[in-house]
Amino acid sequence: MEVRDRQGAVGEAHGKVILVGEHVVVYNKPAIAIPFPLSIRAIVKEHMGEISIDSSMYVGNLGGMPSKMLGLAQTIYRCLELCQQPKEGIHIKIESEIPMGRGLGSSASVATAIVRGIYNHFQKPLLEEELYSLVEIAENYAHGKPSGIDMRTVTSEEPIFYQKSQGSSCLASPKPFYMVVADTGEIGDTKTAVAHVNELRQQRLSMINAIIDEIEAIVWKAKDAILTGDSKLLGNLLLMNHENLKKLEVSNLMLDHLVETAMRAGALGAKLTGGGMGGCIIALTKDMTDARKVGEALIKEGAKTVWYFSTHSKELIRIKR
Ligand code: MEV
Repeated sequence: MEVRDRQGAVGEAHGKVILVGEHVVVYNKPAIAIPFPLSIRAIVKEHMGEISIDSSMYVGNLGGMPSKMLGLAQTIYRCLELCQQPKEGIHIKIESEIPMGRGLGSSASVATAIVRGIYNHFQKPLLEEELYSLVEIAENYAHGKPSGIDMRTVTSEEPIFYQKSQGSSCLASPKPFYMVVADTGEIGDTKTAVAHVNELRQQRLSMINAIIDEIEAIVWKAKDAILTGDSKLLGNLLLMNHENLKKLEVSNLMLDHLVETAMRAGALGAKLTGGGMGGCIIALTKDMTDARKVGEALIKEGAKTVWYFSTHSKELIRIKR
């Protein structure tokens, strides 16, 4: 969504949660992700001199960005080139509700919000493929060789079924699913996690390929479970997917502890979400009452923040420690 008002031109994007198939999606296998209703806004205003940034990670000129954010700087420069503007004269303020490094899509979301904000500022129409190619610059820098699922989900209003070589398609369910997302508070680095799986695969090719194939089979079954609204089956599949992610060595003690806690508290299934090695878990529940129960148990057992929601509503309820 883009808005232009007296406060400046605004670009916005939401977060994402991967239901099943993270990591294998890098190897051109399918995965399923849903929009997560926390958002990032980039407010772009005219300003004299060098491009400046105001964000929770960095405040200052674009030229002095920390190395972690250089991909974003490249995206911004490319936007200005495509808008036929000089590489100066704008101020970008970033307001984010999405915690960073938790597998919730903050890097794809911030890049998307910035691109939309800049195009909106210069009143240039933004084609979908142009948006993806601009966001990809920042994502390639942040994640190495991302599958592209994050940027597709943060720009989608619906759950998506995604495969690198096929692109994404919407996955509408006849019934709502009830989801809990719990943050361990630990930062997980997706680039490191993806590199670790790649290394494992090089060391034990047939064993890791067999796990990748098992996850692929889970994703296809999860697609059917979503299309038929079968939350019990989907829950079982989440748990199976978590067991496979453990074998890929991207889980850790806290993620496993929160998955077990969610199951003991009555979840239908639970797993880590995103790159892993920190970040968040998701749990599926029968209804909103169970979602609250599971959420409270997760907070009691160490989660820093818990959100729960129905996939058919935009309302997000947060429980904080
Ligand atoms: C990160 O959100 C998901 C991964 O599968 C990486 C990717 O798809 O680029 C771990």
